[in-house]
Amino acid sequence: MRRNKLDPATHRVRHPLPPARWPTREEAARARWFSPIRIGPRLTAAERTWVPAMVPWRATDDGFVTPEVLEWYARFAEGQPGVLVVEATGIRDIASGPLLRIGDDRFIPGLRTLVETVRERSGGRTRLFIQVLDFVTVRRRPEPEQFFGRYLEITDSVRGQLALWLDDPRWREAAEGEVRECLLAADRVALETVLTDRELEALDYGYRERIWDMHLPHIRELPRVLPGFFAEAARRGREAGFDGVELHYAHAYTMASFLSRLNSRPDGYGGSRENRIRLPLEVLAAVRARVGSEYVVGIRYLGDEVVEGGSDVDDAIWYGVRFAEAGVDYLSVSKGGRFEDARQPKVGEAVYPYTGASGYECMPTVLSDARGPFGRNVPLAAAIRRAIRDAGLPTPLVTSGGITTFDQAEGILERGEADCVAAARQTLADPDWFRKIRLGQGELVRRCEFTNYCEGLDQRHKQVTCKLWDRKFDPADPAVRLATDGRRRLSAPSWSPPDEGVADAPAD
Ligand SMILES: Cc1cc2nc3c(=O)[nH]c(=O)nc-3n(C[C@H](O)[C@H](O)[C@H](O)COP(=O)(O)O)c2cc1C
Ligand code: SF4
Repeated sequence: MRRNKLDPATHRVRHPLPPARWPTREEAARARWFSPIRIGPRLTAAERTWVPAMVPWRATDDGFVTPEVLEWYARFAEGQPGVLVVEATGIRDIASGPLLRIGDDRFIPGLRTLVETVRERSGGRTRLFIQVLDFVTVRRRPEPEQFFGRYLEITDSVRGQLALWLDDPRWREAAEGEVRECLLAADRVALETVLTDRELEALDYGYRERIWDMHLPHIRELPRVLPGFFAEAARRGREAGFDGVELHYAHAYTMASFLSRLNSRPDGYGGSRENRIRLPLEVLAAVRARVGSEYVVGIRYLGDEVVEGGSDVDDAIWYGVRFAEAGVDYLSVSKGGRFEDARQPKVGEAVYPYTGASGYECMPTVLSDARGPFGRNVPLAAAIRRAIRDAGLPTPLVTSGGITTFDQAEGILERGEADCVAAARQTLADPDWFRKIRLGQGELVRRCEFTNYCEGLDQRHKQVTCKLWDRKFDPADPAVRLATDGRRRLSAPSWSPPDEGVADAPAD
């Protein structure tokens, strides 16, 4: 099985942060980045600054909003971005650990409090969308004893392969317990001969389903059930008061896998591009039918999967035009973050899709190839946007990935490479940074170092924080809330702007 690793020979340049020139308040007031944008038929965002979805692992184990979730979004709201997208939120009513959920009406009240919190803390200036997600099963890497003792299905094929390997036909009839014991004691060469690639993967990386595992009934029926799940999730989002819903078609999850060139489903939902986009379009249509034509429905998807045999920018351009024709209200373009090339997890841990080369492209760090991490993904959004405009459609495009200065963002908008410029980690490092720049206080921006301490926390499903918040603080200060490990502050240090004198949000 191919594992596409980050190449240490090319990823060895440590890039300095790009120099930042901060605009005066007057220059910021004239800037494209701080100019309004229409998203969908009725909604206007006050500016083109954007915080893309970031999972902070702060929900309860059964998916409810907690005070820590509220604090996370309140802090982003204080920076008054044009758009804030709430983290990937599960659309099914199934146990998902501390991931936010929207798979039942009982989640609506907590989400409504979240909406009210953001409205209040942004002074009504920030538009709030919620990202909705489906995923299929991924299990932790097992102990070999567990795997051979319990998880591995002892099929005729396993017995047959064992008989061939040991040159002894009695293994074809051997008792299950004997086969299990024999495999547990077997050396690597024997295992690589006897087990299938998928069985070996389950041993080495943990069992992981594919959306083309047609032998599994719940996978077969995905096209039948997902439009309804997404539509109901979107309806709940609207009822909770969100300004829009973002369909998560990116990274390692179900819908991105339908779009993937690797999708080989034989049921009309895999193979050709037309077939691969069929379910994503059916989901979009179902969502639209449920929430109406005036509610914002966006899509986040991949401009390039960055895995061997996966979809690339040509696919993404084609998909983008189809989504735009189908009436999506915006497209947010991400890159990579797939399981196919992820690093092997330790025993007891789950494979994490941001560890391989495709993961690097999703959240690039300063330790990079010659090109560096800054604005690295912009050409994808630019190519998709060009095709959509050539098709005569006005759908706004959002780009993200290594954006950390005003000039970067303004240049992207000026060159027509995107319509909104998003920053995840820079906004985590300093949730006030948009507001500081808008107020001519850019020299106060706490700049992200792009070394991915936060991503390491995400990987271990620990409450996400930024290492820069912890530089100076008194853990005994009762105003400072700490993470559950008692060592890190949960929120960015507060910042109070001088009197703004800036008009509030525009009317819809
Ligand atoms: C802690 C963390 C959690 C993330 N969670 C999500 C998520 O829930 N959904 C999503 O689409 N992207 C997620 N991302 C990816 C970001 O939205 C963004 O695409 C990526 O970090 C690159 O942008 P940046 O360079 O501005 O950080 C996450 C990123 C981080 C750092
Ligand atoms: S932890 Fe590091 S990469 Fe993450 S936001 Fe903070 S400075 Fe940036």
